[in-house]
Amino acid sequence: MNSVNIQEVLKRLGISELNQGVSTGTEWFETQGAITNSISPIDGKEIAKVKNATMEDYEMVMEKAQAAFKVWKLVPAPERGEIVRQIGLALREYKDELGALVTYEMGKIYQEGLGEVQEMIDICDFAVGQSRLINGVNLQSERPEHRLSEQYHPLGIVGIVTSYNFPVAVWAWNTALAAIAGDVVVWKPSSKTPLTAIATQKIIKKVLVDNNIPEGVFNLVIAKSSVMGDNFLADKRIPLMSVTGSTAVGKRVGGIVGKRLGKTILELGGNNAVIITPKADIQMAIMSTVFGTVGTAGQRCTSTRRVIIHESIFDEVKDKFISAYKGLESKIGNALDQDYLIGPLIDEHSVSLFQNAVEQVQKEGGKVHFGGQVLEGSGYESGNYVVPCIAEAENHFQIVQEETFAPIVYLIKYSGDINNAIAINNDVPQGLSSACFTLDVREAETFLSGVGSDCGIANVNLGTSGAEIGGAFGGEKDTGGGRESGSDAWKIYMRRQTNTINYGAELPLAQGIKFDI
Ligand code: UN1
Repeated sequence: MNSVNIQEVLKRLGISELNQGVSTGTEWFETQGAITNSISPIDGKEIAKVKNATMEDYEMVMEKAQAAFKVWKLVPAPERGEIVRQIGLALREYKDELGALVTYEMGKIYQEGLGEVQEMIDICDFAVGQSRLINGVNLQSERPEHRLSEQYHPLGIVGIVTSYNFPVAVWAWNTALAAIAGDVVVWKPSSKTPLTAIATQKIIKKVLVDNNIPEGVFNLVIAKSSVMGDNFLADKRIPLMSVTGSTAVGKRVGGIVGKRLGKTILELGGNNAVIITPKADIQMAIMSTVFGTVGTAGQRCTSTRRVIIHESIFDEVKDKFISAYKGLESKIGNALDQDYLIGPLIDEHSVSLFQNAVEQVQKEGGKVHFGGQVLEGSGYESGNYVVPCIAEAENHFQIVQEETFAPIVYLIKYSGDINNAIAINNDVPQGLSSACFTLDVREAETFLSGVGSDCGIANVNLGTSGAEIGGAFGGEKDTGGGRESGSDAWKIYMRRQTNTINYGAELPLAQGIKFDI
């Protein structure tokens, strides 16, 4: 057993028994809101308590954020990048502890907790480089002695709503880019994972103090949705709202923010499939897909939910899956203990969604080949541990069309060529991630082509989850259409301005219009 001393971790991260839930950077406030607690899904024990924000606290934070934006947007972008660089260094210093708290509060295994903090560090590095590359384009004017160009300016306050499954990395994706863009952030973390948010805010404190960063640039507000719900979304002072959550939540967000013509980044549900063709390296496909299905106990938005297998290799692949899962059965347990590979689900509700899916797929005519049980007994007292399930199903089943945020995977048969597999891949409401295992270049390129996968992420010979931060992350259809993280995702955190400059002595109008006065 190679386990972590969680009391030491909490101490080093500055988490006490009762924690304030409102901060504008370095300052924490004596809030009068409700006291809630954070429970570890690992052992069902209370980790610590949090004092939530009141309406007055929210208002105070918003005012500070507005004032801070006026200062922060004037700081040259590379200097803003320097702050993000130091935040990346601070995260490196606390990587082990923050990774452990992610594990204890959320339940992903420690290796994945560390991976989550590494994503934070990576996006900081990316944003530092981007801070010197906030560029526009020069275009050709149709008029003589005119120059046409585009530039990007800071946008304002960015609202960030994060989910429990990546409790801190998604904050980092948004915050690192927002910060170099000259924006300020107001972060509302999941009520299931407030402590990782508080710890993160405390980790960046030294950087803010050392550099005299005004209060109000990096804000954290832990609040119930009665205090920070629809009112937060409807708040006109927030030009951009970045929300990670279910499709149902995203539709609500899109409606409210859209009504006031605000911008959104929506990262919603996925229903990610892996296609395994007869031309695949099957061993590689199995190894990779199993991480996608059971990693983070199936609680990534990129988790593999469906495996679309050619009928000629279906039984072989199914048997290999089952034997891989059998090997994992003894690896379900305390996520802080590095002997285990599969931790608990976040809470009872998730367990019941899992059980419901196992039941439902059978009712619709599917067959469970492995798992589906809730574990009991020593080490499983929290009631959140389940045996990952493999079910054979058809794509049109209602339960298969939905995203169940738990480790249940549906094996689906296809016949004929790759186009049939692609049609199944695309025949769900969501469009986040997808993958195809094949060594055949025609199949691979068809899958990636315009008539291939309709998802925001399409991979060949690797799984659906575990994307690097360097690419734009997000998906289409019910996944919400947002893109965050790498590539040119920084652009949404800024406002674009088109500039035309006349450096001549004449006043020609565009489109050749004559208007002589
Ligand atoms: C999420 O589950 O909300 O691609 C994000 C991945 C991770 C991020 C997942 N880098 O699986």
